[in-house]
Amino acid sequence: MSMYNDKVIDAFMNPKNVGAMENPDGVGEVGNPRCGDVMKIYLRVRDERIEDIRFETFGCAAAIATSSTATEMVKGRTIEEALKLTNRDVAEALGGLPPEKIHCSLLAEEGIHAAVEDYRRRKEGLPPLPPRHEAVCHHDLADGEETHGG
Ligand code: FES
Repeated sequence: MSMYNDKVIDAFMNPKNVGAMENPDGVGEVGNPRCGDVMKIYLRVRDERIEDIRFETFGCAAAIATSSTATEMVKGRTIEEALKLTNRDVAEALGGLPPEKIHCSLLAEEGIHAAVEDYRRRKEGLPPLPPRHEAVCHHDLADGEETHGG
C-alpha cells in the first residue's frame, strides 16, 4: 500500500505547471539539505500579481505533489499573498503527508520565496539570486507533527 493518500498520488501523477519558462521575471532555485533534492520555480509577474508560475523539481513524489499544489495555490495571487503560503498550508491542501515527507514540502515554499526575492532584485537592477541549497525555512515542521498522511 502506498504511503501517500489519493490526493498526493493524483498531484504526483498529474502535476500542474511543470516545466521551464522563457524569459521569467523571477527564478528561485533551492535545495533540500535533508536529501539533496533540488527545485526551480519560475515566475511571470504583472502588476505585482503572479500571472504564471512553473516548476522543475528533481525530487521525490512528495516534492512533486507539493510543488504542483503550491503553484496552483499561488497562481493569480499577489506577491504578498504568495509569500504567506507555508509548507503546512500545502500539506493540508493535500490532506496531509507522511511525517518523514514533511521536509519535502519545504522545497516549494522556499522556491517561491527565492523566486520572489529574485524578481525583486531584478526590478532593482541587482544581479540574479544565486541558487540556495542550504536554506531551511524558519518554520520547518518537526517530524511527526503531521500524522494523518496516507
Ligand atoms: Fe528529497 Fe522528498 S526526499 S524532496
